[in-house]
Amino acid sequence: MDLMQSILESAKKDKKKIILAEGEERRNLIAAHKILKEGIADLVLVGNEEKIKEYAKLLKIDISKAEIMDPQTSEKTEKYAEEFCELRKKKGMTMEKAQKMVRDPLYFATMALKNGDVDGMVSGAIHTTGDLLRPGLQIVKTAPGVKIVSGFFVMMVPDCEYGESGLLLFADCAVNPNPTAEELADIAITTAETAKKLCNLDPKVAMLSFSTMGSAKGELVEKVIKAVEIAKQERPDLDIDGELQLDAAIDIEVANLKAPMSNVAGKANVLVFPDLQTGNIGYKLVQRFAKAKAIGPICQGFAKPINDLSRGCSAEDIVHVVAMTVVQAQRGI
Ligand code: ACO
Repeated sequence: MDLMQSILESAKKDKKKIILAEGEERRNLIAAHKILKEGIADLVLVGNEEKIKEYAKLLKIDISKAEIMDPQTSEKTEKYAEEFCELRKKKGMTMEKAQKMVRDPLYFATMALKNGDVDGMVSGAIHTTGDLLRPGLQIVKTAPGVKIVSGFFVMMVPDCEYGESGLLLFADCAVNPNPTAEELADIAITTAETAKKLCNLDPKVAMLSFSTMGSAKGELVEKVIKAVEIAKQERPDLDIDGELQLDAAIDIEVANLKAPMSNVAGKANVLVFPDLQTGNIGYKLVQRFAKAKAIGPICQGFAKPINDLSRGCSAEDIVHVVAMTVVQAQRGI
């Protein structure tokens, strides 16, 4: 069974409640109809009840099983404002500002998640990644033991012998523009855990660079070398190695030449990129040139699952991201 199929099946087995912060938007509504009909998740739609119901009628879809919460009129809004104000007091938040901010659908949905009124949150069809991540980072914050939130892709490359028969995780391709060595180590550890929990992989994590085991020098390489040291120190139980060039990481013949002592080189199924430029460009290269299926970006490291949509997403994409969010809630990813 293909990974997405198995995620959809897993979601149905232990349904979770997911909040769609863009509940008035067309693709979200079409997705909601399918999610409810197929029993993938219970849903909360954020928006004006009358508007949502009228739009659903126009689209000839049934979203009657969804709960609708309107930040302008909800009985929860005041409570969320008080809690948000308390959470951000040290950052200069006032009750007046908090009352305004929680009426924003993204902040409202994030407070619903923080409060345990829902199990996960999905948004981003009409908001930027930054718009979605910021309330999540300020309110939900990271899971215990995790230093930073990052974003990964599950790459499924057809007719490919690399990784796990073409299945690989790429990180960070979505969140941190220029992680420090400590942050890069954290991304490697978190992605290794995700690879186990989500894909049942025995993770072999390659810390990518333009250098393999000292073949080149400089500040950029030093950062990756330091990240490898930190990751190994923190989690000696995990197979994390580098610095490795991409070919040495995935190709056993190149690995035998360039990094014969490495327990990861030639076998990597998790690729950790040194920064967001390389990560984001890297996954798109593989997606386009190798016609790979790229599932993501999926956020990891939040205390509760929050996921971003691409603004060019289809209703089908939203269904998949919601199913993934349910599975993250089930497995603590
Ligand atoms: N993990 C955990 N906490 C974080 C992280 C992180 N990765 N980044 C920031 N924070 C925290 C900060 O510590 C701060 O906390 P505090 O307010 O409690 O002190 C809070 O989040 C806000 O931090 P800022 O640095 O002020 O937030 P900023 O406005 O810079 O936004 C953001 C952070 C949104 C993640 C930003 O770095 C960003 O826009 N990243 C790129 C996203 C992007 O455009 N990705 C590409 C598109 S996705 C794609 O194409 C697949």
